[in-house]
Amino acid sequence: MNYNFYGVDTVYLAKKYGTPLYVMSEDYIIERCEEIKKDFLNKYENTFAVYAGKAFNTKTMCRIIAKEGLGLDVVSGGELFTALSVNFPSQKIIFHGNNKSLDELTLAIDNNVGRIVVDNISELEQIIELSKLKSKITKILFRITPGVDSHTHSYISTGDINSKFGISLNEEILYKAIKIATDSEFINLAGFHFHVGSQLDNNDSHLKATTILLNTMQKAKNDLNFTTKELNVGGGFGIKYADSNNRKNISYFTDAIMELIKTGTNDKNLDMPLVIIEPGRWIVGESGITIYEIGNIKNAPGLSTYAGINGGMPDNPRPALYQAKYEALIANKSNIEKNEIVTIAGKCCESGDILIKDLEVPQVKKGDLLVVKSTGAYNYSMSNNYNKLPIPAVVMIKNGEDRIIVKRQSYEEMINREI
Ligand SMILES: Cc1ncc(COP(=O)(O)O)c(C=O)c1O
Repeated sequence: MNYNFYGVDTVYLAKKYGTPLYVMSEDYIIERCEEIKKDFLNKYENTFAVYAGKAFNTKTMCRIIAKEGLGLDVVSGGELFTALSVNFPSQKIIFHGNNKSLDELTLAIDNNVGRIVVDNISELEQIIELSKLKSKITKILFRITPGVDSHTHSYISTGDINSKFGISLNEEILYKAIKIATDSEFINLAGFHFHVGSQLDNNDSHLKATTILLNTMQKAKNDLNFTTKELNVGGGFGIKYADSNNRKNISYFTDAIMELIKTGTNDKNLDMPLVIIEPGRWIVGESGITIYEIGNIKNAPGLSTYAGINGGMPDNPRPALYQAKYEALIANKSNIEKNEIVTIAGKCCESGDILIKDLEVPQVKKGDLLVVKSTGAYNYSMSNNYNKLPIPAVVMIKNGEDRIIVKRQSYEEMINREI
């Protein structure tokens, strides 16, 4: 029996579009957006949710998010340009990044993005100059480094005290930043942002960081008479990749965060701020699979059996980058008993290009199709042309119907910028 993904036979998809192939379910993405609306936006007043586009940002994805009414977090001129190209409402865009260029900031300010999250004082000064030049008032949040260890892989942990991201909680630095912003008639400092890390399976880090920020809000009020109107608690909510982890409901995170902010602001006599969340992977991660064709199989007594696939670290750099774990199955043998252990080897000239170690499968042979699950986030968006492998196509499924949303890159397209 063939593996069916959201009502569509994956073997049929591989034949129709070729492999490697990213396949995503719009039904799944909409389900997650609806959950956010029901259990966060409609449940609590004065809330806002943005999708973190770095997980998967394409024109189609921006259209889906716009239709669902959520906002969008972008981290570069390229992501912003993609959103603007499909008329994503710019007031619902939040612009992040630790080193935004003058061109990127100009694009953002010219297009009236809703909020810029300022990462450091030097960027703040540049935004003030630019806003003055354009005679505009730019709404900003300060990204704060809360000093919380999120116990995730160090490459996706962002909230610790020595992180490259954010303004330090050191009073001298933070107060200087607040004073510069509030002294400028071209800046509307609405509040603070933090993002503690990604793929978090419990709410400890969010709650620790929220507690720290509530104290900061109180001190800023007492010492500088600064009122925090907005608090953005970031994304990072974990999903299911392999058996060892699970996606929790959004309310597991948001109920606890909202409760803490409500009681905290009440106890400290502070105004309840607008609360923003910005999940990326939680919305798209499990919406996607990647289909590969198995090629050469190598085995020797007492050694690993390697099954080579026609993709690897260029279409999914996460295992090589931070030892990410994935589950997979053989699409054309989905109901056959598993009796073999193979290691899935990518086709790049790197020993580290191993997608999955020791995967249990039915007996595999050349031409079988491998489906890797939960590749909707940080796969297409991280894809590259290493070893000059073309970037795969992306197919979207909705109500059992498939459509192409990103065409497969050709060899010609790969070299057409080269002189
Ligand atoms: C500032 C910020 N917000 C949101 C996210 C989204 O994280 P995730 O996809 O884990 O929800 C990230 C991820 O790096 C981030 O840096």
